[in-house]
Amino acid sequence: MVKYTTIKKNLKFEIEKGDNNDLAFLTHYLQNHENGVAPHFKDSAIKFYNELNAQLDCVLEPEIQLVLPMDFDVPFPPPEKIDFTFIDLFAGIGGFRIPMQELNGKCVFTSEYNFYAQKSYELNFGEVPFGDITKLNLDIVPNHDILVAGFPCQPFSISGKMKGFEDTRGTLIYNVLQIIEKREPKVVVLENVKHLVHHDNGNTLKIILKHLEDLGYLISWKVLNASDFGVPQNRERIIIVGNKQKKFDFSKITEKPKMILKPFLEKDVEFEYLNEPYTLIENFRSQESGLIFVGHRNKKIRGAGVRPGTEHLSRVHKQPNRIYSSEGLHPALPSQETSGRFWIYDEGTVRKLTINECYRLMGFPDDFIKISNTSELYKQIGNSVCVPMVKEVIKQVKDQLL
Ligand SMILES: C[S@@+](CC[C@H](N)C(=O)[O-])C[C@H]1O[C@@H](n2cnc3c(N)ncnc32)[C@H](O)[C@@H]1O
Repeated sequence: MVKYTTIKKNLKFEIEKGDNNDLAFLTHYLQNHENGVAPHFKDSAIKFYNELNAQLDCVLEPEIQLVLPMDFDVPFPPPEKIDFTFIDLFAGIGGFRIPMQELNGKCVFTSEYNFYAQKSYELNFGEVPFGDITKLNLDIVPNHDILVAGFPCQPFSISGKMKGFEDTRGTLIYNVLQIIEKREPKVVVLENVKHLVHHDNGNTLKIILKHLEDLGYLISWKVLNASDFGVPQNRERIIIVGNKQKKFDFSKITEKPKMILKPFLEKDVEFEYLNEPYTLIENFRSQESGLIFVGHRNKKIRGAGVRPGTEHLSRVHKQPNRIYSSEGLHPALPSQETSGRFWIYDEGTVRKLTINECYRLMGFPDDFIKISNTSELYKQIGNSVCVPMVKEVIKQVKDQLL
């Protein structure tokens, strides 16, 4: 069987910045050639493949079918047994895709427009996401059982400007609704920041739910915390589940006992210690959330002046000053903290969480390939979803609604 990485090497795969979807067509075709989904991608994929083939003269067969099926020698290949299909919108680095594949879900379409996230996604899953969802001809989206979308949260988040639907990123939910209307998936799973519940006095959420109901879906939603799913991070996110026959019952989701940071920390690697004055407080206690705030840097980022136009980030600005104990939980990793100033107190020293530790706090397996510069990596993981939390939700979706 031909290996995916061999074909990739021969074809000199290079994801480009911009709106070119050639590689998305090709890789979607490679992953879906015999499951009824291929017609959505076939013509464009073969055209592109033949152009490449002619240019490089590296694969003799005139038709792409001759290299299929393919051995997806990537960390997270498609499942061998398929129980359901799904589409992964605003896919980021694939926080939904990992657990859904583990539950025998086959991804049949994915969209993500960030160049670095696309590169990471391709390396880990062997598929290039389609780009900007607002520019896609939605006819290429195949039928599917479950639609998942962690639509951009900055317009609703308290660490963003909270402009909601006024922000063009806030209206991306309408692109999702268009796909739902067109393909009528059995189940819709949406994820966003907890603040969506309160945004514009609850009106934003009300509007989103009303649209889903108008499309015939019965909706349930709940704010879940990553810390209840085996990772030491206090990260609350709203999960909205819609189905046409039956309401999803969140009470059946199994939660786990809270964990602390300590067992998730790396050993024997080089740490970045805090090499400036800081203050440790006396008699610190565990907060109700499970965080143990033990001190702060003496430098006041916030007091030192927030740049004009960044006032909305004041809350995020505070976090790089704070130090939390490894005997407790960590606060939510935000996507805006691109220098990764997450300070922990461990073994009598204050140091930054490493990139690998941040990915562990989100439940990503250690064999997940992390590429690009560190600021992109911090941004990507801060944008992502907690993998074990999604897994529990989808497990229940499978049991209750499929
Ligand atoms: C909150 S993140 C979701 C991350 C994802 N759930 C994960 O596990 O990594 C939202 C993502 O939507 C992407 N995005 C924003 N606007 C987009 C658009 N118009 N088309 C496609 N992707 C978009 C962003 O680049 C970002 O990665």
